[in-house]
Amino acid sequence: VSSLVNVVPHSFTALPQYADFHTAHRSFPCRSSDIWVASHPKSGTTWTQELVWCLVRGLDHSLSSKPLMNRFPFFEWDSLMTPELVQALESMPDDNVEKPGAQWRILERGDDPRLIKTHLHRELMPRGVRSSKSKIIYVVRDPRDVCVSLFHHTIKFLGYTGDFDHFVDMFLSARYEFGPYWSNVLSFWNKRKSDNILVLKYEDMHADLVGEMVRVAKYLEVPIPENQLPEIVEHLSFRNMKDNPATNNESTMDGLVENTGVKFMRKGIVGDHKNVLSVDQLKRFQVWTQTCLKDSDFPYYRD
Ligand code: A3P
Repeated sequence: VSSLVNVVPHSFTALPQYADFHTAHRSFPCRSSDIWVASHPKSGTTWTQELVWCLVRGLDHSLSSKPLMNRFPFFEWDSLMTPELVQALESMPDDNVEKPGAQWRILERGDDPRLIKTHLHRELMPRGVRSSKSKIIYVVRDPRDVCVSLFHHTIKFLGYTGDFDHFVDMFLSARYEFGPYWSNVLSFWNKRKSDNILVLKYEDMHADLVGEMVRVAKYLEVPIPENQLPEIVEHLSFRNMKDNPATNNESTMDGLVENTGVKFMRKGIVGDHKNVLSVDQLKRFQVWTQTCLKDSDFPYYRD
């Protein structure tokens, strides 16, 4: 446990405990053209980022072969926002050249959108996100699958050595970065009608990737790349993204801890928790979900 960084004990709704994080990053200058991909970690963020990239910039292999982290920077709170990252975000995009896919840019706005990833709770995002009306795409995934995925991620990237049952406890009591899960999810879900927020489900992306891509394209007001859809679907397949050094995070994240054999692109399936969670753990998840959603209209993952 001690090897987990930033372990903040907090309960489901306790936003004030985040008070220390309400610092300079909240003044980050936003643009109306910014497009944010937001999520709780391990919910399909990388997949959604690459999808958005393909729709906005076009599937231009000379650009998409750059690491996704550089094309689509990760915006975190101050401790992790280096001056270099702020500068990189302020001067994006770095590929401001005319190219065949240029028509896929958001022409109506007359500028290139910056594409930005975050795991921040909506209320901890820069204030300007709301006033500038930049667009947010929030991706949500079954918390039981998120927990399994995060368990492996935490072993690999944070050196966690405890067992899975203890990890379930930590997940349900939000003793990890960017939790609590439901607080993160509901902060976006509850504002989906009033703010610029499109909610995607990881499971829907599995079931109908083209359908979800069309939803995103309409929301972002970019043309649907009819002719390239099969190529983009192939590009976004798990197998392809796992083999693609620009999206599999291997070169950027390997070496943080000794090699554990766990890959960032691990399984990429729906319902992995059914192979892992015991009856008792499933029950704990169910009680936790029912408690956290008792006043919510959030319809999924309640079983
Ligand atoms: P698993 O660990 O269950 O395999 P994030 O990007 O938010 O960290 O989410 C990572 C999870 O999304 C991992 O889940 C990863 O395998 C999965 N993922 C990434 N790309 C995917 C794709 N193209 N198709 C399906 N799942 C994908």
